[in-house]
Amino acid sequence: VTVLFHLGEMATATESLDESTFEVLGAEIGYKIEVVSPEDEDKELLESFGLNLEQEELDEDDDDLEIRPPVVTVMGHVDHGKTRLLDAIRNTTVIEGEAGGITQHIGAYQIWTEHEGHDRAITFIDTPGHEAFTAMRARGADVTDIAILVVAADDGIMPQTVEALNHAQAANVPIVVAVNKVDKPEANPAKVRQQLTEYGLVAEEYGGEVMFVDVSARQGTGIQDLLDAVLLTADAGLDLRANPNKEARGIAIEAKLDKGRGSVATVLVQGGTLRVGDPIVAGTAYGRVRAMIDEHGERVEEAAPSRPVQVQGLNSVPRAGDLFLVPEDDRTARQIAEKREAVERNAALAKARKRMSLEDFTKA
Ligand code: GTP
Ligand code: MG
Repeated sequence: VTVLFHLGEMATATESLDESTFEVLGAEIGYKIEVVSPEDEDKELLESFGLNLEQEELDEDDDDLEIRPPVVTVMGHVDHGKTRLLDAIRNTTVIEGEAGGITQHIGAYQIWTEHEGHDRAITFIDTPGHEAFTAMRARGADVTDIAILVVAADDGIMPQTVEALNHAQAANVPIVVAVNKVDKPEANPAKVRQQLTEYGLVAEEYGGEVMFVDVSARQGTGIQDLLDAVLLTADAGLDLRANPNKEARGIAIEAKLDKGRGSVATVLVQGGTLRVGDPIVAGTAYGRVRAMIDEHGERVEEAAPSRPVQVQGLNSVPRAGDLFLVPEDDRTARQIAEKREAVERNAALAKARKRMSLEDFTKA
């Protein structure tokens, strides 16, 4: 506090300071300050087990990389038709099973479509609003390759439309706009295009680069055009490849505790191939892949890059956005999980201590 005071900074002992102030303070008293984020800390933790995922990716031989399906997140304002649209895409009726028609969880599934004479897969993630997307991004997990921004043509741009597109733009994720509910008499798809130009999303037909597709999730029109737009966007500028021939890595999309099956986690494989029997660690959860189930409820033996599957066999429930990986053996999986738990415990303790000293301080 004294040093800071002399530097012209008024602060109390329990106050939070920004990084640059810390650096100046450190220099003043003869220390070089290194700010370590939780992500960096976890990287170091994994490195102590000989795991350096970034380096591994850099070292990847071009010949080992194979085309993988794009991972698409559907975002947009409440009630603009995200779930219904995914329904139309899958030709199923998930919406009827949802309590009150509001999305309760993140679904993730893969569909197949014919595009320019080839069968192509697309992985979809149905986020409840954009929260999961934000949570995952905040933890450094960019799972999405392409965002479909759903805008109801009767409502037009709404607050969460803007939030969603801001998130996609901040993450550098290309956007395809699905102008939905065009079956409604009051629909005004031209207005949606016009409104979005203000946010830098200029439609191709207006001389821009963003694909806008008019759809009716209710009537099932425009769906094939939308899928084509997604694949065209994927093929135009995205290098979507991964090495399927190594231990799997990826992201936990959602997880829950199931009465009969224990911890079930929907994971998205980003690299490698996940197999039944693999040791696995996801955040502070660890175990062995006991069974894997796909979007149709069928058991699968393995999951390649961009494949979402439900995994059973973890000892606890990972959080959305937790990285998962397949280490050498069960023991390593457990040790990584336990070390992470210790890190979290320490952080929680430090926080509690800080709160207590603040209370003492205010009492005194
Ligand atoms: P949240 O998950 O709550 O954010 O909503 P959502 O964006 O998933 O919307 P949802 O698919 O639940 O659709 C909201 C309402 O709009 C439902 O009543 C749908 O039946 C209706 N709806 C969706 N698409 C269309 C469409 O193309 N045309 C018309 N007329 N109604 C639609
Ligand atoms: Mg929904």
